[in-house]
Amino acid sequence: MTDDSREDSKQRGGAGAGSLGSLGARHGVAFGTAVSEYALRDDGAYAPVLEREFTILVAENAMKMGPTYRGPKEWHFHGADRIADFARQHGKEMRGHTLLWHAMNPPWILHGDFSRKKLLDLAHDHIFEIVPRYRDVITAWDVVNEVVERTDGSLHDTFWLRGVGADHIDFAFRWVRQAAPDCKLFLNDWVGEGEGAPRQILHDYIREALDRKVPIDGVGLQMHLRIDDMPKFEDIETAFDRFEALGLEIHITELDIVLPMPATDEALEAQAQAYGEFARIARERKSVTALVVWGFTDKWSCHNSTPEPYENGLIFDRNYDPKPAYEAIRKAWR
Ligand code: XIL
Repeated sequence: MTDDSREDSKQRGGAGAGSLGSLGARHGVAFGTAVSEYALRDDGAYAPVLEREFTILVAENAMKMGPTYRGPKEWHFHGADRIADFARQHGKEMRGHTLLWHAMNPPWILHGDFSRKKLLDLAHDHIFEIVPRYRDVITAWDVVNEVVERTDGSLHDTFWLRGVGADHIDFAFRWVRQAAPDCKLFLNDWVGEGEGAPRQILHDYIREALDRKVPIDGVGLQMHLRIDDMPKFEDIETAFDRFEALGLEIHITELDIVLPMPATDEALEAQAQAYGEFARIARERKSVTALVVWGFTDKWSCHNSTPEPYENGLIFDRNYDPKPAYEAIRKAWR
């Protein structure tokens, strides 16, 4: 490697020349993926593609509270460290995912019958343990995940809402800011892509939180989609307009577009077009600074283990060959 090309690859977050990661970087978009700790450990074909294509990584499960927080003052970070060490070795950034969520909570907390004060203490301890540990590599944290109700747009009825109250969200953002002052803080969401009440409530919720001086830097829009039930891109763009108007940074955080199985060529083409549209939006909008796919190979997709007959939502097939969706992103970014 010449000095010049080394410098070049550093600036591109370690992604290979001509990869989607390096193309995205030219447009100010970090191209990322969820990472399975098991695929990284067990599948020799996984790491080279991960290293080549992406500039920002997120642990698919390994940094969640359930897998890490094993008891009062007791944490296990094996899986999380494996991914963070890979990121460090290869000059990648990470998104931290996630601190307070309704799912994958540790059973000892769920069934501990703790008081509000004790739950806040437990959340505080967790945040001040995990956030500083990865401060060198995580540039954005999903501080809370999926807090707005999907149907009526009130706050989602979660363990943390019931046990602490709505202010657990404010506490969490303030603590993470203290624990990692340079990190961007995101509210990661599952309703933001469409039009209608839930998106409006999310918008108003964030606006009010910003008025209360809660340190929210950005909104994460997950985008788990099905090709035969897509939101309109018009509505997606309107949603982006609204969040931008609040001064927020936007990360597309969990994009996957699953197909009814068996997948037809037509469906693969439609999937490619949709991926291309997201890449175009990310390129055109200054506010969109990351486009993260929820896994990259259909071999390791989380949809493979669900009963629904929808799969193959990612940009590489099960043999790690690029799909039309990969080409569509490349075309939008070249
Ligand atoms: C999913 C993982 O992909 C699965 O492996 C796990 O069993 C459940 O969680 N929204 C999120 C992600 O914010 O954390 C979820 O990830 C998918 C939905």
